[in-house]
Amino acid sequence: MKTLYKILAVTTMILTLGVTIVSCSSTKKVYTDTTDVVITSTDEEFKMEKSGAQYWGETCNRCHIAPSPASYNDTDWDTVSLHMRVRANLTEKEINKITEFLTSAN
Ligand code: HEC
Repeated sequence: MKTLYKILAVTTMILTLGVTIVSCSSTKKVYTDTTDVVITSTDEEFKMEKSGAQYWGETCNRCHIAPSPASYNDTDWDTVSLHMRVRANLTEKEINKITEFLTSAN
């Protein structure tokens, strides 16, 4: 009797495993790319570098009126830039360009 149960249990396990394997493999779909998107140009080609003055006009006006470059000397601009870089969450490149513009036009 015990042997019969063992045989039944093993058979059930093998069947379950078999069904699982078969069902898994049969649901696998092969995706073929039917939508051929022809990219003639990348965004990169048309990306124009923004100048420091542009960044200043766009970002420094967000929270308050953008201060004129003449408002501070070079040393103070370095300090303010660091402060506003944190406030405005700017990248190093952006703030460097802005500071370059501010210190060149004061
Ligand atoms: C996210 C909002 C925000 C942006 C964007 C921002 N500022 Fe400010 N700024 C502030 C706040 C708020 C203050 C008041 C001081 C403080 O609480 O930090 C301030 C103060 C200042 C001051 C007064 C001096 C000082 O350091 O406190 C200057 C000058 C200044 N900002 C320049 C700029 C410049 C230049 C930019 C562009 C790079 C800029 N800000 C972008 C929020 C901003």
